[in-house]
Amino acid sequence: MKTAVYAHRGSKCNCPENTLDAFAEAMRVGSDGIELDVHLTKDQQIVVMHDEKIDRTTNGKGQIKSYTLEELKQFDAGSWFSAKFKGTRVPTLSQVLELLADFRGVLNIEFKTDRNVYPGIEIRVAQLVGHYRPHLPVVYSSFNHESLIRLKKINPEADIALLLWERLAEPWRYTQQIGATAQHLWQPTAFSETAEQLQKHGIKVRAWTVNQPKNMQLAFEMGIDAIITDHPEAALDLRNSFQKVTKQ
Ligand code: G3P
Ligand code: CA
Repeated sequence: MKTAVYAHRGSKCNCPENTLDAFAEAMRVGSDGIELDVHLTKDQQIVVMHDEKIDRTTNGKGQIKSYTLEELKQFDAGSWFSAKFKGTRVPTLSQVLELLADFRGVLNIEFKTDRNVYPGIEIRVAQLVGHYRPHLPVVYSSFNHESLIRLKKINPEADIALLLWERLAEPWRYTQQIGATAQHLWQPTAFSETAEQLQKHGIKVRAWTVNQPKNMQLAFEMGIDAIITDHPEAALDLRNSFQKVTKQ
């Protein structure tokens, strides 16, 4: 089985994370999937960023939820990474969905609802995906499983994946109960007998954040369904070499 390569927050190793440049680069290198994180602004717009605060990845300060989209768009989301990206703006989910018009892979949208700060985010995201990319395969994930359950109620067809740090007891049971098709596991948890147990029950395993070549190799050998990595191009090269060797 071929392990899929998902670009974590886009091609995070050579572009500012969760920006249009990072997603364009992830597509350019041929990523099988793209992972991103979503939040709600003060005026209920969906934006793509990892942290709840803008301090680390823009030249501004404070919580995303305390800014309107127009205010948020004033900040520079690229210079912190490199002068080359000066003037980069925080993207909306709509902009990313438009950018992905020719993307043939999987989009993994993570709800950053760990502290329950964004009531209604699930339906807004589902509506945007339905409007802009109704045929794009999307996997929704979250550490806040209530968010995924809410989404499933809104759209029973939604493909959901549980984000987890640790192994659950009989992990397949809970996963099946809430209708998830996958677990997205912290790599030390994924690289254990848990992966095989889940896969035996028809549950996919995607490991994050797999950046070391030796860990990528291990994922390929174990038949992990996907790795979520900051280095999609390197991971794809390594996987292609691995496949050549194993086919011989
Ligand atoms: O989806 C895997 C990974 O993105 C979860 O952690 O903190 O990078 O969003 P984080
Ligand atoms: Ca994430």
